[in-house]
Amino acid sequence: MSRTIAMIGGTGPAGTGLALRWARAGETVIIGSRDAARAQSAADAIRQRVGPEAKITGLENGAACAASDLLVLTVPFEGQAALLKQLKPAMRAGSVLIDATVPLAASVGGRASRTIGVWQGSAAQQTAELVPRGVSVAAAFQNVSADVLNGGEDVDCDVIVCSDDPQATQVAMELAVKIPRVRAIDGGKLENARIVEQITALLIGLNIRHKGHGGVRITGLPGAAYQSFSK
Ligand SMILES: NC(=O)c1ccc[n+]([C@@H]2O[C@H](COP(=O)([O-])OP(=O)(O)OC[C@H]3O[C@@H](n4cnc5c(N)ncnc54)[C@H](OP(=O)(O)O)[C@@H]3O)[C@@H](O)[C@H]2O)c1
Repeated sequence: MSRTIAMIGGTGPAGTGLALRWARAGETVIIGSRDAARAQSAADAIRQRVGPEAKITGLENGAACAASDLLVLTVPFEGQAALLKQLKPAMRAGSVLIDATVPLAASVGGRASRTIGVWQGSAAQQTAELVPRGVSVAAAFQNVSADVLNGGEDVDCDVIVCSDDPQATQVAMELAVKIPRVRAIDGGKLENARIVEQITALLIGLNIRHKGHGGVRITGLPGAAYQSFSK
């Protein structure tokens, strides 16, 4: 399937880590940023790691949005709503937006190992309220450590995908299994993103306590519930 993945707020560790994995898998990726030059230099850094064959470039967020109908949002919660409002005119009906945002208390000066309450229920549900009609939102990748994504090892983590749109779930699961060792699991409705987001706060606390890069694995489901890495 030919597609372009636009990483909105893609210059941070989460965005670059996912972009690195997808560029390695041969996907076409645009790194988005508030600053086009910063986006381009993040894209160049990924090309250095992947090789000259990497299909990756950098654009200002609005231009990245306009150039793709597959958007991945990797911004801190405190910037999420304002950025989505700004980008709304650039989003096309029929697009899928995959949201990795976690509403960490750190975004309002609290601890990273706690989440803050979001009026809509979760950061992903807030996103769903703010995108134009016809844009489907899936929540995914909140539990995958950016340190691990940016490292050289395979990723020992399941990606739980939550969405009210089966097609958005399918697209997010397809992207998840481009990352070696990741298994993708359909996590049900978008409202379940609230729980997945909270798991990230738990993982951050565990990582601080035990000095690691913990992920999650869901056990005991029938084999058909898991999608796995495919080249
Ligand atoms: N880090 C992880 O391990 C991890 C794992 C899973 C999920 N997440 C979630 O993914 C999101 C991104 O994580 P991150 O660690 O990559 O975050 P980050 O480095 O703090 O931010 C990512 C990018 O967002 C842009 N940004 C920052 N503040 C902004 C604002 N107020 N408005 C618009 N854009 C802004 C910046 O890009 P420009 O300055 O270039 O525009 C920045 O490079 C967060 O919600 C986080 O909770 C993180």
